[in-house]
Amino acid sequence: MKIKIMILVVTIVLALIAVLLICGRKIDVHTEKSVGGLSEELQDILYLGSLAPNSHNIQSWIIEVYPEEETIKIKIDPDRTLNVIDPVLRENYISLGCYTMTLMNSFQAYGYGTTQSYNEESKEISLKFHKTTGETDQDLIDLILKRHTDKRAFNPAELTSETFNNAYPVSDSIHYYSSDSPEFAAIKNATLNAYIAQAGDPRAAKELSDWLRLSNSETISTKDGLPAEQLGISGLRKSIYYLITTHESATGESFADQGITTAENQLDNCSGFVIITSGDSEDELIDCGMRTVSLWLSLTDAGISVHPMSYAIEEHVYKSNLEKALNIENIQMILRIGYTNDYGTNSAIRRDLADYISVNGSWQDE
Ligand SMILES: Cc1cc2nc3c(=O)[nH]c(=O)nc-3n(C[C@H](O)[C@H](O)[C@H](O)COP(=O)(O)O)c2cc1C
Repeated sequence: MKIKIMILVVTIVLALIAVLLICGRKIDVHTEKSVGGLSEELQDILYLGSLAPNSHNIQSWIIEVYPEEETIKIKIDPDRTLNVIDPVLRENYISLGCYTMTLMNSFQAYGYGTTQSYNEESKEISLKFHKTTGETDQDLIDLILKRHTDKRAFNPAELTSETFNNAYPVSDSIHYYSSDSPEFAAIKNATLNAYIAQAGDPRAAKELSDWLRLSNSETISTKDGLPAEQLGISGLRKSIYYLITTHESATGESFADQGITTAENQLDNCSGFVIITSGDSEDELIDCGMRTVSLWLSLTDAGISVHPMSYAIEEHVYKSNLEKALNIENIQMILRIGYTNDYGTNSAIRRDLADYISVNGSWQDE
């Protein structure tokens, strides 16, 4: 009898673990690519472009395609903003630049040349594209698919300035600080202290909670925001995280404390920080986003993982103190970088293209 009960208990526990593991698997949101009036190739290119990094994964972009004019207009979606941490749309414009550069690389991979310009009156980026070769660059496609934000702890491996320079040359607007430099310590402290300040701010906590996705079904229904996959939580940990977290508890003290511990762990486990600077005008921020993606793709190619940590820039006092400490003006991006044993994959939580793309006139297939 005792044995029978033990077998039953073990079976139930195993079944429970199996269910948790199944729920903890990485999900595929199956982004729908089809958009009426667009060729399959343009749909593929626009999907690839949507894999751009963007703040909180809010995917704040509205796209109008003019196939006959070979033009795409790109602008911010006013209904997708982060009013608390990004009241002046600084990160939103950087993200728009990230989208534009990812899209330009996607066009390039499919054999197109592109040019872009920003119109301050209409607040639109106009991207012109034209096919120049029938060849496809699969390596570039794979690179765009591979790039992603990695929020895990990185290996304690050294990444010298020389190694960084080989992957991407530093310049007046791109700085690298390895973990043994005094500047690294200053960035780390500013980032952690700003994170702690933000975690204790109920408005910021509510905004973050609104963009968290706390179940597979919520993620599949919105195809945006920050599900477990975007936070680097997987397997059994993901199932438990979904089981114990609600949108309300995510605004509470223990969630904030857990976030601080995670941020500490991230900051203690990396090889260095990259700082990207630019002016504050809309087109300068767009340009900053474009340079961020060029840099990020090069680092991905060199096997270096990237995690933007913007907290010290989002909190004014920390930003200006850090700028003084580093003797740098106009910090716009702080990237934690380092190595992992496996680079990992992009979880590709992205909306259906037809949600934000409209087509004016139709595509004539040759
Ligand atoms: C302007 C900008 C600011 C960002 N700031 C942060 C940040 O402070 N913390 C963080 O964990 N991720 C940050 N990210 C990364 C985004 O969360 C990430 O790009 C988004 O979730 C999409 O995921 P992917 O990069 O893996 O495609 C930032 C990204 C951008 C473009």
